[in-house]
Amino acid sequence: MRFLKKGDDKKSKSESDTATKGHPDLKVISGSQISGRQPQQQAPPQQQQPQQQNITLPNIKYKIAVASGKGGVGKSTVATNLAISLANAGGAVGLMDADAYGPSIPTMMGIQEQPKVSPERKLVPLVRHNIKLMSIGFMVPEEQAMIWRGPMLHSSIRQMLSDVEWGELDYLIIDLPPGTGDVALSLTQALPLTGALIVTTPQDVALADVRRGVAMFERLGVPILGIIENMSYFLCPHCNEKTEIFRADGGKNMSERFGVEFLGQIPLDAEVCTAGDIGVPIVAGHPESPQSEAFGAVAQELETVLEESGDEDELTIL
Ligand SMILES: Nc1ncnc2c1ncn2[C@@H]1O[C@H](COP(=O)(O)OP(=O)(O)OP(=O)(O)O)[C@@H](O)[C@H]1O
Ligand SMILES: [Mg+2]
Repeated sequence: MRFLKKGDDKKSKSESDTATKGHPDLKVISGSQISGRQPQQQAPPQQQQPQQQNITLPNIKYKIAVASGKGGVGKSTVATNLAISLANAGGAVGLMDADAYGPSIPTMMGIQEQPKVSPERKLVPLVRHNIKLMSIGFMVPEEQAMIWRGPMLHSSIRQMLSDVEWGELDYLIIDLPPGTGDVALSLTQALPLTGALIVTTPQDVALADVRRGVAMFERLGVPILGIIENMSYFLCPHCNEKTEIFRADGGKNMSERFGVEFLGQIPLDAEVCTAGDIGVPIVAGHPESPQSEAFGAVAQELETVLEESGDEDELTIL
């Protein structure tokens, strides 16, 4: 067992400053740059090696990745609603969509614009539902095939961290693509994370992927802050009866097995889905609904875990 130390952050600050100032060519990413079909866009060989320097973002208290072993379990839904719940509880919150292969935050938050560039040549996050947003989806057309070269992906993740005017935040929630791939690797190489949240559905088939997700963060030295079980049960809108469509309590059992916190269950609900499709997440559109209460309870649990961990000093790495 190891612990994340404050010093880890301090060590990399000067490196980060250098790295941040070293972006002379800040520009909005165009589709052609990521298509992989434009050889003239290749960076010179010395720039193709992923940099290992850390960005620290000292004005952001908690930097939290939302991940899953498996696709489609509701990471982006949880990330958006959790972000809004944390903001409703008084936090200053940013949401970064790092899903380079299928950015869904712009749709879910109901905003499709290009961010402006400040006089300091930083990207200005868009604001929606009281959340500062940045997404690769703001910078490339939605229908654009997202075939990334490794170095380009790595520098885009760095750009969304260090070349964005995030300002002072309590939380930066970072929505990852599914699985254990290169985005998570680039992110953890770029920034010391406070920790990761693992989203799962309750079935065994999804839980097998949780193991892989947990193992990946373990290898990358990122603490697991907790497991969130999504689509846990169906709450009948007519009689309020709870029906467990999938195996009951799978995520809860898994968190016990791994010895990590269980942060709560989110019901399977048509309104949660519709709300994401129309760009008004349920917590923003229907804050009093039982579904929103479930997200609020998860946010509260997360706050407790972060507070009890004594800030970033003593988060357990499995
Ligand atoms: N609790 C829920 N109830 C009903 N629908 C949900 C719920 N959670 C997510 N969904 C729906 O399931 C679909 C997948 O959700 P989402 O995009 O959040 O998953 P994801 O894990 O981010 O997917 P990906 O791995 O592709 O990034 C979406 O249509 C979303 O609206
Ligand atoms: Mg997603």
